[in-house]
Amino acid sequence: MENKLMIFNMKMYMDISDVKNYLNEIPSLPDNVIVCPEMMYIPYFLTRYQKISLQNIYSINDGAYTGEVSARHAKKMGISYTVIGHSERRTYFQETDNVINEKVKIALENDLKVILCIGELLEDYEKGNTEEKLLSQIIIDLFDNKKINSDNLIIAYEPVWAIGTGKVPTNEEISKTVEFIKNSIKERYGISVKVVYGGSVNASNIESLNSINNIDGFMIGGASTKIDEVDKMIKVVNG
Ligand code: PGA
Repeated sequence: MENKLMIFNMKMYMDISDVKNYLNEIPSLPDNVIVCPEMMYIPYFLTRYQKISLQNIYSINDGAYTGEVSARHAKKMGISYTVIGHSERRTYFQETDNVINEKVKIALENDLKVILCIGELLEDYEKGNTEEKLLSQIIIDLFDNKKINSDNLIIAYEPVWAIGTGKVPTNEEISKTVEFIKNSIKERYGISVKVVYGGSVNASNIESLNSINNIDGFMIGGASTKIDEVDKMIKVVNG
């Protein structure tokens, strides 16, 4: 059986000393790890690791768009993935599902694999609206997209209330929601996608989360920037 995926979402946590130390202490990573560094450090990370992802892209390939990053240019640099629709982008940068839909399209047109983040807010969860919220994200984010297939799309299921909070749904809840996501995508688009769980995954809880049968891996934020946790988490997942 393939090892579960481990997506390291490093957000904006590391300064250059942290990056250099990380790359010295972890000179290589196994094949099932995808690293998403802060954008300007990507050339450093490319010298060490195979699978590098952007944390976000723009929806246009080239032009006068100060401060944005192009999927086409990323692909040419040897970057193979991009995260799209992270809840921090949705919340702090007002990214709507329609914007996310355009970004997924441009990424796939440029042969970048997409890690699409979806997840419910605490109020959705408390009102029992999790599935409704996820379905609406799935429908709009992937609307009219002829390029998606089971190899170029990964869904990261990240309950917004679990990100950076230390709170995690129960294994049963995660398993049920992941089943719902897989079935919804299969029904609508006829493809089987990998679904990873994200939200407060760390070296202490990954062993229990790893026992959930239907998840295909993890998206790990804070803990992925801590060298000792990385080591422990890889040992649990890869055995
Ligand atoms: P966290 O972040 O592991 O720090 O909760 C996960 C994410 O936002 O991808």
